[in-house]
Amino acid sequence: MRFYEKFEKTSENRLPQRAFYIPEGDAVYTLLNGEWRFNYYANSDAVDVNAKINKWDKVKVPSTWQNTGYENPNYCNINYPFPIDPPYVPNVNPCSIYEKDFLVTDKNKKTYFIMEGVSSCASVFVNGNYVGFTQGSHLQSEFDISEYAVLGKNVVRVVVYKWCVGSYLEDQDFFRCNGIFRDVYILERPEGHIVDFSLESENNDTVIVKTDAGVDVTLYDKGEVIGASVTDENGVAQFKIENPVLWNAEKPYLYEVELKKAGEVIYETIGLRTFAINENNEFLVNGVSVKLKGVNHHDSHPENGWVMSDEDIINDLKLMKELNINCIRTSHYPPTPRFLNFCDKMGFYVVLETDIETHGFVRRYSNVPYGYDVETGEWPCAMEVWKDEHVERMARAYHRDKNHTSIFMWSTGNESGHGPNHIAMLEWLKTVETKRLYHAEDASRAFHRWDSAYNKAKENLELAEKRNENVEEAKEKFEKAIKDREKAVTDMRRAHFHSGMYISLRELDRWTATNLVDQPIFLCEYAHAMGNGPGDVFDYVEKFYSHPSLVGGCIWEWCDHTVIIDGVQKYGGDFKGEITQDGNFCCDGLVFSDRSFKSGSLEAKTAYAPFRFEYKDGKITVENRFDFTNLNECKLTYVLACDGEVLEENTVVLDVAPHQKGVIDTAACFPESCKYACTVTATLYQGANELGTLQQEIECEKENILEEINGSAKIYEEGLFIYAEGKNFKYGFNKQSGNIESMIIDGKEQLYAPTNLSLYRPWTDNERNVKHRLIKIDIWSGENLDYAWYNVRESKIEGNKITFNVAIAPVSRAPLFKYDLSYTIGENGAVKVELDGKIREFGMWLQRLGFEFAFKNKNMAFEYFGMGPEENYCDLYHNCALDFYVSKAENEYVNYIRPQEHGNHTKVRELTLEDKITFKAENVFETAVSQYSIDQIMNAEHTDEIGESKATYVRVDYKSSGIGSASCGPALNPLYQMNDRDIHFAFTINI
Ligand code: GAL
Ligand code: MG
Repeated sequence: MRFYEKFEKTSENRLPQRAFYIPEGDAVYTLLNGEWRFNYYANSDAVDVNAKINKWDKVKVPSTWQNTGYENPNYCNINYPFPIDPPYVPNVNPCSIYEKDFLVTDKNKKTYFIMEGVSSCASVFVNGNYVGFTQGSHLQSEFDISEYAVLGKNVVRVVVYKWCVGSYLEDQDFFRCNGIFRDVYILERPEGHIVDFSLESENNDTVIVKTDAGVDVTLYDKGEVIGASVTDENGVAQFKIENPVLWNAEKPYLYEVELKKAGEVIYETIGLRTFAINENNEFLVNGVSVKLKGVNHHDSHPENGWVMSDEDIINDLKLMKELNINCIRTSHYPPTPRFLNFCDKMGFYVVLETDIETHGFVRRYSNVPYGYDVETGEWPCAMEVWKDEHVERMARAYHRDKNHTSIFMWSTGNESGHGPNHIAMLEWLKTVETKRLYHAEDASRAFHRWDSAYNKAKENLELAEKRNENVEEAKEKFEKAIKDREKAVTDMRRAHFHSGMYISLRELDRWTATNLVDQPIFLCEYAHAMGNGPGDVFDYVEKFYSHPSLVGGCIWEWCDHTVIIDGVQKYGGDFKGEITQDGNFCCDGLVFSDRSFKSGSLEAKTAYAPFRFEYKDGKITVENRFDFTNLNECKLTYVLACDGEVLEENTVVLDVAPHQKGVIDTAACFPESCKYACTVTATLYQGANELGTLQQEIECEKENILEEINGSAKIYEEGLFIYAEGKNFKYGFNKQSGNIESMIIDGKEQLYAPTNLSLYRPWTDNERNVKHRLIKIDIWSGENLDYAWYNVRESKIEGNKITFNVAIAPVSRAPLFKYDLSYTIGENGAVKVELDGKIREFGMWLQRLGFEFAFKNKNMAFEYFGMGPEENYCDLYHNCALDFYVSKAENEYVNYIRPQEHGNHTKVRELTLEDKITFKAENVFETAVSQYSIDQIMNAEHTDEIGESKATYVRVDYKSSGIGSASCGPALNPLYQMNDRDIHFAFTINI
């Protein structure tokens, strides 16, 4: 057993955790970030880690071995990348030695060495002397090195091991990284300096400072002294603030506190605020009910992995503000401490999670069903020997971050089961923290497990009694189930929020309707943002607003995690030596890895926007969804439009208190009928920032815009084709498919490939479990839609109309779609396309149904009236609006890390390609114009595998399904599944 394989000894000589701060005044702060001497060793046991080393590499710190090329990246979600045999880690355990010189300026001072993050564990040596040892990658470690440091030049050596017993507690879903990945520095501090202090806000008018006795404390309000005092013999100073300005995430007002002792000055800020829960299970900030519009944040940088600079962090937080996000869960570990300074200042409600996840225990045996069988005693949270480390990880997070105004809740970690060690963590929290809330994700999960077991036992007992069979046994089981459930309730109640992950809207309804959990319900993860999506965020937010105890949630997750190699974004499975990996499951961000937005990002922004409106009978009722901001601090622009023409446009300032509604009277009248659409669009601005745009389509009779079909083209059969010919056109219809295969206009062939009538799209990540394609290893289920044939039963010509009776039949399956497809062709080349058919019973919902045209011209420009400008789907469109738009095929491509479905537009009335070919809808259609064919996209796993654009592919679709977030979340809401059985679809094409 090696020294880092001990449950009970996870550190040596590490100082007790204190609040994070950088002292000023007489303190000297020496940041050691920058170039270090470095060597990597594949087998640490073969290395004398304290020996003199003559040959060094150089590396920039902070960094990770995986991002500097010493090891290949490895992305793992649930599976541990090593055997599950705690406390042992693989017998061959790599390590790296880091060395750097530093100066000590004053030997009368104490000298400390601090690392903000090192994975997985590290031994520290100063001038050849062993100083100590630390574990807990995302936590701070501080060592007193006064004894070993000398005046002038010193040398610090850090030996970092890839794995240690602590690795079992760090099974988070991310690229597994090693190294000194956060700031590392020296502090020289005068004797007698402050060690720890806490700032608390009380009654929303008092600041309480607790530290050593005799500390000078000054309180500032925007630079002006508003209080000065010396801490009493108990180390306490209190300040009552006259006319206090409170803190909240919308208006993050902070006071500054200055602590002076022994020539040192420490600055910290504090906001006055309270966090509470009321009898309706609402979450209250300063007594006001607040909905949490959150996101989960991992530290992830496309080039630097776990390393994020202050600029990177601030950039993330700014973008979150831009998306109207007000809550962050630091999944699943404490971020670099300065992250929280920025949250205090910029205004976020933070769930601070400690560095624990032991998810891989669900798969420790091959024959154990996936689940949290904590009662076996084999989980870290249930092992007595691991208790202290659990409590210590909670305490280290708490003490480091306790002075942050933005933290409203402490979290015991993620996906680790819920056992006695978690209970110990919560019990410990109770001894230090009474003003914030606690979150224990798995305590809630466990409740549902025991609740179902209880329901089952109850049913079984009823059945047994009815049959009068095995009643005693059933009774016994039921009694046990009652006890188990009671225990689960007690466990769950130790935390303040009821936590849920990927809970469906239906299930939420069940919970609230029956008051099943009687706690505020917080979706610590929802709306899995993988690839194209998330499609369900708007409905969730409306659900949050529909019930007091649904306090909100955090979208999973902030950004895609990728490693970029030669400009291509790579993911799990792309690297040598990945023994276990989880593919592109790390690419599930609300924003791309470079932080650019996708349609899903803007959909979340719209869902989280602080207003809603409804137009009715000439009045616009505006709902203020801010919690602390009157709408008179904003401007609202509204536009009434018909067919793209503005009927009325106005910008108003409304005096509407938070959570209240205001009314605008409009003057313009909408006509009875229109060609395209009548709409009311409203945009809210705060200063120059657009907080969101929402649109309501006003019901209005739609005039027929279909092209009139006059006269007849010359129609004749020849070989495999039926042709329709006129002055400047000749169209060819394939008698074996019923599809348009050739369109010659002015002597030029327009089509690159035959048109397809198809029932699938390049699957989104959210459709990874939907079996539409022929999955070779699973030929038993699924629709096999990517291998389907057209079987034409009949084709006929009647005057100017050609009709095909067709069935689309996938391989190994009965025909799925039987239809009549007719083309009526006028003398000028106008075509009316009519599709009437039936989709068989026993069919799965379809991704889409429609025509895919392939035009020879590449990167065609186009114009449309429909939902735009971003891609949109029937459940992901709130960020878009009905209007006329112009675009180009290349602008429609969305650079999803794994190429997939993109560029759809709903509610299209009319589409014109390069002023040449126009599609008009009888009703509406959906369209997507792409440089790539469906099959080209489907066959690529990375962007560089798509190949060249060969044509412009134009989809004219009856319907496309919604997006949802089923890659990890619940199945796509049936409302958004293309499940129609009777299909009628018509549009015209004119040239
Ligand atoms: C959750 C987990 C996250 C992440 C997500 C899938 O179960 O808490 O860490 O793995 O699933 O992307
Ligand atoms: Mg996990």
